[in-house]
Amino acid sequence: MSRPPFPREVLRWYLEAGVDEVVGEVPVDRTAAVPPPPRTPAAAAPDPAPPPPPLPAAASDPAQPSAVAESADTAVKSAYALAAAAQTVDDLRRALEAFDGCALKKTAMNLVFTDGAPDARIVFVGEAPGAEEDRQGLPFVGPSGRLLDRMLASIGLDRTMVLISNTVFWRPPGNRSPTTSEVATCLPFVERLVEVVDPVVLVAVGGPAATALLAQGAGVGRLRGRWFSYATPRLPRPVDATAIFHPAYLLRTPAQKRQAWRDLLMIRRRLDAP
Ligand code: URA
Repeated sequence: MSRPPFPREVLRWYLEAGVDEVVGEVPVDRTAAVPPPPRTPAAAAPDPAPPPPPLPAAASDPAQPSAVAESADTAVKSAYALAAAAQTVDDLRRALEAFDGCALKKTAMNLVFTDGAPDARIVFVGEAPGAEEDRQGLPFVGPSGRLLDRMLASIGLDRTMVLISNTVFWRPPGNRSPTTSEVATCLPFVERLVEVVDPVVLVAVGGPAATALLAQGAGVGRLRGRWFSYATPRLPRPVDATAIFHPAYLLRTPAQKRQAWRDLLMIRRRLDAP
């Protein structure tokens, strides 16, 4: 007969499944049977109306692929409408606080939108908030954020001179990569953010951000060290955009710091150009 699992085995299983945050003081058994509603005079009425006939499966089952695609499409449309109405970074933050179209919001503790100056000449966009970012509600404040701060300092920048954000604004559970659909749902807000800040330089931090912003179909190793044009209909002129290695990658692969240093100097030169 098999023994019940030890509590630490259960905890390890939770961690591997991405459950690594406590969100309430008291456990809730969501698998428990829902008790029937109390009998009210109306519910106890002798002759209830017959239940309506069931809808066809495709229309009633939200797990059907077509229903899922449709709701993702609706979320992107609503994101574009909300983002388009925003005129400032604070407007965008308020719009995101009211926006429920991205499922990541349900599992995250905090919205992680921007840090830095809303009128910065340079905008950095990373991939997704991690655990520390989720706790503090600020992007890049964990270990990779500390390296990003040192990278900024190496070219005379700090958080009062830049604007930092991500391709998604809530932490994916267990630090998994955001899905294409989650990125697509947040992208209208990223695009509008670049429009309202209207920086001189846009920097994609890491491969996923480079894919989302530069749409070049190549990895960050091929995109770094080059300039691209980032254009949207509401930008007065295209913004010079580039990609750099993600600091989390540099922490794992310090040999690449030499290339990262070259990229930072290239960015500095562009900011200093008349
Ligand atoms: N990595 C990112 O891409 N963004 C953050 O905010 C933190 C870590």
